[in-house]
Amino acid sequence: MNVRPEVPVITIDGPGGAGKGTVSARLAERLSWNWLESGRLYRWLGWQALQEQVNGEDEEALGRLIATIRLRPRAGGWGLEIEGAPIPEALADEAAADRASRLAGLPFVRRALLPVQRSCRQPPGLVTDGRDMGTVVFPDAVLKVFLTASVEARAARRLKQLNALGLYDSLRRLTREIEERDERDRNRSVSPLKPAPDAWIVDSTGLDAEQVVQKIWERWRAGSGVS
Ligand code: C5P
Repeated sequence: MNVRPEVPVITIDGPGGAGKGTVSARLAERLSWNWLESGRLYRWLGWQALQEQVNGEDEEALGRLIATIRLRPRAGGWGLEIEGAPIPEALADEAAADRASRLAGLPFVRRALLPVQRSCRQPPGLVTDGRDMGTVVFPDAVLKVFLTASVEARAARRLKQLNALGLYDSLRRLTREIEERDERDRNRSVSPLKPAPDAWIVDSTGLDAEQVVQKIWERWRAGSGVS
């Protein structure tokens, strides 16, 4: 698929549990744009590498796994599809996120996933969330948001999301796991979790998803000249 630099992109980066997934999906819906949740690519890779006992040093095997990833346009966003395999429900849990974050620090993994993510830049626009969408993947995005919230608020949200999927965890453990993952994501040498210099920082503590979507929507509308 061709990369379309003229297609507008809004990026929403930030730490785990800040609400990026929900906010970016709703914003995409409101704009009738495509949506890509980049964390699912890393989560699937972490999950699958564990199933196949592929370790982080095995570039060839990881490259083979990445080559099976397909993204298909669907109503409501780019769907992750893997050749010949269903996507496991367990991608949502913190263990998958932890494995994802370990492989996400490998430069060759990030390099290999770049074209996959960029291929989602299709008309009329793309809303995407992750850690480096505004800094590395789409540095020319029309609006870059860095969404944060206190770690307590983030852990509480994650717990709610997990419960809704019928998965359970303790708040204390989730808080610790989120903190550890943030630490790893922030301190890696490639594509660390940090706001782009031109990012707009939004603290979502105490706001619900709809209020955050509204804030971003207004900001985008003010900058784009759409009335
Ligand atoms: O966004 P989500 O919490 O699903 O991401 C899971 C993990 O995948 C993150 O902790 C991070 O290590 C990695 N990730 C990344 N870059 C992205 C998206 C996710 O490194 N663009």
